[in-house]
Amino acid sequence: MSDDLAETPVELGSARSSGPSLQSMLDSDTRPVPESLRDHSYQLQGTADVPKSRYTDRAFAELERTYLWRETWQMACMEVDLAKVGDHVVYDVAGESLIVVRSDADEIRAYHNACLHRGTKLRVDGGRVASFRCPFHGWKWSLDGELVELPAQWDFPHIKDHPDSHLPQAAVALWQGFVFVNMSDDPEPFETYAAKLIEHFDRDFDMTDRYRTLWVTKEVPANWKITMEAFAEGYHVIATHPQILEFTADENSEYSIWPESPNTTRFVNGFGAQSPHLEELSDQQVVDAYLQFATGARRGDVDASTVEVPEGATSRQVVADVFRQGLEQTYGADMSAKSDAEMLDAVLYHLFPAFAPWAGVGQSLVYRWRPGSTPDTSFMDVIRLAPLPADGTIPEPAAQEVLALDQSWKESKAMGGLADVFEQDMANLPRVQAGMYSTGKRGISFSVYMEARIRMHHRMIDAMIDRGLDAEGTSSVLLDPHRVSDG
Ligand code: FES
Ligand SMILES: [Fe+2]
Repeated sequence: MSDDLAETPVELGSARSSGPSLQSMLDSDTRPVPESLRDHSYQLQGTADVPKSRYTDRAFAELERTYLWRETWQMACMEVDLAKVGDHVVYDVAGESLIVVRSDADEIRAYHNACLHRGTKLRVDGGRVASFRCPFHGWKWSLDGELVELPAQWDFPHIKDHPDSHLPQAAVALWQGFVFVNMSDDPEPFETYAAKLIEHFDRDFDMTDRYRTLWVTKEVPANWKITMEAFAEGYHVIATHPQILEFTADENSEYSIWPESPNTTRFVNGFGAQSPHLEELSDQQVVDAYLQFATGARRGDVDASTVEVPEGATSRQVVADVFRQGLEQTYGADMSAKSDAEMLDAVLYHLFPAFAPWAGVGQSLVYRWRPGSTPDTSFMDVIRLAPLPADGTIPEPAAQEVLALDQSWKESKAMGGLADVFEQDMANLPRVQAGMYSTGKRGISFSVYMEARIRMHHRMIDAMIDRGLDAEGTSSVLLDPHRVSDG
């Protein structure tokens, strides 16, 4: 590189890692890649520090509760959890609670989960009921939300036929087997709210031909944003998962922000190619390392020590072929048209504020995050979906396992080897949360490109809080100490 070039100023936001870009990896794919993977854009989100108080301050958590969690679309459960009339799930988030119920053969509703008499939570667990009866004084509502029984009605002449005696509802949207809810009085339609996510998955990444093989909910010792942000970039691989560097294109991952559909963002980590952090490896070394690491369904019966990279082939092509065979053996599905990228790459979408499905073939994961009872804790859900068996049977969906704050992911039997990776990720979190209380430096310095989505989500939270405060005519002084500035 000449001195002149070295001194050319790089426009802020345009710098990228060394190593091939994801798009150039797609260029050398052996099959046509899904159109959605070619849909990439980025928007600079500034460089200002993000105040740590957003992760610790009760007043900020309260602002999120009022103006974020009550106003956004959130995944409450899956449609399989509501198979029969009366089946319901309790969705608790940020102090709110909804009963999400199949109220009729072709209707799913979400009721606010509080008795209209003195406020008692009507249901604490999911299950199947014919009606909702309050355990305190016995007021009872039908599945349609109509008040059908009121003991000693003579003393409540002001209640029975009052329109307010119906259980208040939240909005419900069904998409790709998931049930979404929104408590806003005037919710944006899910179709526009999640436009990019819907476009990509409906065209390229169908999830409806799968069934749930795992659902673990764990309380985590860190703020919900810290937990979520631990799954939002490939930057942490170098220090947190160094055992995968030989076959992970981590630093050169791709991050997408679509300004026209800002609730959807994406992170794609190329696999089957080495990390730019390492000295150059041969394709054979990459293949050997990856196949040693890959197990089960992905590798099938293939003996990792016997796979040779033919003249002119790349490590990505060779491993993708092995995975195609493995998936065909395991699921009996024809994978011949599936691209190398679909076989290999980690493609993680995010729907604001806290729903994240992986796209791809074979098994895939879905994440969800919610705040805990204090700013220092949160809940993370991990759902695993697997292709339906080739024989046409539909297995029972895995039931929810709940792990407490002091339990390890390894205590989930269904999680298997996945638990090790989660333990690696989660080991950082209490330390991150502790560091949020340090006054040595009051802000967090996210990167310009790799962590831009995280920064954008913070700014979107602020925009929601501002909108809510404005609508109420309340001063934004409540938000100001925690605000992410534009700089
Ligand atoms: S609080 Fe529910 S019936 Fe009295
Ligand atoms: Fe990780």
